[in-house]
Formats: sequence, structure tokens, C-alpha cells
Amino acid sequence: MKHAYVTLLCGGDAYEPGAEALGRSLRASGTRVPLVLLATPDVSAAALDRLAASAGWEARIVEPLANPSPDGDLVFERFRNTFTKLRVFGLEDVEKAVFLDADTLVVRNIDELFARPAFAAAPDFFTPERFNSGVMVLEPSRALFAAMESTLRQRPTYDGGDQGFLNTFYADWWSMDVGHRLESRYNLHHFVYQFMSGRAPLRPMMGDVKIVHYTLQKPWRQATVTGGSELWWSRYLERHPEVDGPLRRRLHAVQDWAFDHAVRALGGP
Ligand code: GLC
Ligand code: MN
Repeated sequence: MKHAYVTLLCGGDAYEPGAEALGRSLRASGTRVPLVLLATPDVSAAALDRLAASAGWEARIVEPLANPSPDGDLVFERFRNTFTKLRVFGLEDVEKAVFLDADTLVVRNIDELFARPAFAAAPDFFTPERFNSGVMVLEPSRALFAAMESTLRQRPTYDGGDQGFLNTFYADWWSMDVGHRLESRYNLHHFVYQFMSGRAPLRPMMGDVKIVHYTLQKPWRQATVTGGSELWWSRYLERHPEVDGPLRRRLHAVQDWAFDHAVRALGGP
């Protein structure tokens, strides 16, 4: 296929709700680009069926890629599994892919990303001269994946995950032509999204936001008190009326309000 949106589930079904909400958000954006789900063999058949039914995710089973970093070098324990993400670089039947972490949510159509040169990604939050690997435009090939695989053990990963490795593989990303650097609105951390939407002077910028990334908290795993709760749940609940209801909706609105309130208090009088 020419183009595909690709996401990944690895290490069981834990991120399935994320992929479901992401798929729904892509469909709501009006895209006709196929959705490809890379899944390790430990993802359940029931999860794959649900994802196919809810948004048309077409599953491809991939073997996990072991994390080459020594134990203890992980910024978060959950980064242990993420090297499997590199499999997207080896998808041989896709000419150009937009990879989206399962904890991202599309707010507006992003098909224009397929016109960006590969490799492209957006700056990370705390080190903007490095990219965040949750949203990437790439041209997969067997040779590219082989080049990555052969250097896995030699290249350091500063966070113990795929992102640290990829930033050493594409060490020149920061100095590439501007088209390779996606604007932050294509990978906006959920707490930044909430910060902006909670401050009236910044609110006009919200019209440009395309992708929100739940980097700090995963809404389906714990109470999201760091922003973007209502946004994510409104998409997820479309498919889950069994857990929907006015109380739940109110709870998520209050969570976002609490974040805004805390930020306001920190800002002082
Ligand atoms: C960060 C990125 C994520 C990546 C992980 C491990 O959390 O947002 O995309 O998989 O680091 O490197
Ligand atoms: Mn992520």
C-alpha cells in the first residue's frame, strides 16, 4: 500500500483502549488511509477483533524486539517493551507510514503528513533538540530496518527506550531541513494541551492542534489529573456506552478543572 497509519500493541492488551480511541479519532478525522496495527503474539485475538470492528485496524503480528539496554537504565519501566516499535521501519509493503503511539489522539485530519519528507518527527517536550518518537513520518524498507537492527547494541539510548535509540540513529534530525521537523501541534503533550486550553490568551492556538499525546498519564489506566481527560474519554466513550454516564463525564471535567486550578494557584495572584 502507498500510505498507512500504523500503531503498535506489545506486551499484551494493556494499551488496547488507547488504540481503540486513536482509531476512532482517525476515523472521525475523515481519513481514508488504511490503519495498520502491529501486535506482538501476546495480544489477545479478542482485542484484535475489537480493534478491527471499532475502527478497521488491520492487524499484523510481529515478533517482539528485545530491549538492548541493561536493566536499570529505563526512565520508566514501561519503556522495556518499546523497541518493538522499530518494526514499523521494516514494513515492506508500505511506501510511507505515519506512526502514531497508541496513547495519541488525533484531533483534526493529519493526512497532510504524508507530504512531509521522511524521516520527520516533532520536538520532545523537555529536550526540543531531540524528537519525540510517538509521532513519526517514515519510509519503511527492509534495508532501513536491517541498518537499525545491526546497530541496536552499539547506539546508546538515553531513556532506555526506542526514542533514545532513534535519536542516536537520526542524530542529525535537529539540523535537517525544516520539513523534517513537525510542528509541536502534531505531537502536543496532554499537559501542554490542557495548559493552553485553560488559559484564555492561549486558547486561539487550540484551533491548530492536530495530535494530543498522553505521555505522562494514560487515561484508561489511571485518573488523568495532568490534563486532557475529557478529550480522550469523549472519544473512547463513543464505543463504550456501558461505562458512559453523566457522573463519569463530570468526573473527567473535574479532573481537568483540578489541573487548571492547580496551575492557576502556582501562577500566584
Ligand atoms: C517516550 C515517547 C514514546 C517512546 C518512549 C520510549 O515516552 O513518548 O513514544 O516509546 O519514550 O522511548
Ligand atoms: Mn506515547
